[in-house]
Amino acid sequence: MTEGARRPMMAANWKMNKTITEAERYMAALLPRAANSGGVDVAVFTPFTCLGVAARMAENSEVLVGAQNFYFEDSGAFTGEVSAPLLLDIGVDAVVVGHSERREVFGETDEVVAKKAKRAVDAGMLPVICVGETKEERDSGGMWDKVSGQIKAVMDELGDADGNSVVFAYEPIWAIGTGDTASPEDAQEAIEQIRGLLRETRDDAFADSVRILYGGSVKPDNIAEIMAQEDVDGGLVGGASLEVESFEKLIEAADK
Ligand code: 13P
Repeated sequence: MTEGARRPMMAANWKMNKTITEAERYMAALLPRAANSGGVDVAVFTPFTCLGVAARMAENSEVLVGAQNFYFEDSGAFTGEVSAPLLLDIGVDAVVVGHSERREVFGETDEVVAKKAKRAVDAGMLPVICVGETKEERDSGGMWDKVSGQIKAVMDELGDADGNSVVFAYEPIWAIGTGDTASPEDAQEAIEQIRGLLRETRDDAFADSVRILYGGSVKPDNIAEIMAQEDVDGGLVGGASLEVESFEKLIEAADK
């Protein structure tokens, strides 16, 4: 597969925002607009409480509705957790795995993240697997140690899953919610390096087909130059995805 064959993806991560009423209003506005975004996969990752309604509304559309987290066991005594079968039951297609906020605030380890990625694939949900370094790690030259370790843990666990069954997102922690976006060149360099590692640890077919998104202060006014980078296949967007008008601009820019 050639580089140009990867279908761009624009993904909204609402994080801990929006009531069910707000989610309904957002989906009602997004769905007709997303119907014209033929060249881009559009995904919306909502809080658990909004998933049922968002998934029902998106049922006959191309828009993927995803959770922001789940647990890798299917059922049992895991108070407060939600499993893949429970998400599939309400029509959820995808899940964010290993977001830096899960890793940093809730202590998710590389091993847990890898198990979640594997379980999502086996259950038929698309995992968007997040990796990225802190400011201190970048400044001390430890960026690649951190990111490559995160990727290797996932690849060790994934077995022979193919490149279309997962998505990676490079989200440098220092660029998340700070307005301090990575330069397009920094995003390209990191994502090219990640793709190279996937080529080494797996093969050309996997590396050439897997989509790798950039996340961290993506906005309508910087998306074009980010999308113009050869290895960047789309965006995972927090703040600028919360208003439909702004998210729609990002979707249009990804239709490259
Ligand atoms: P912001 O777009 O708000 O920087 O958040 C990025 C992010 O963490 C998406 O998952």
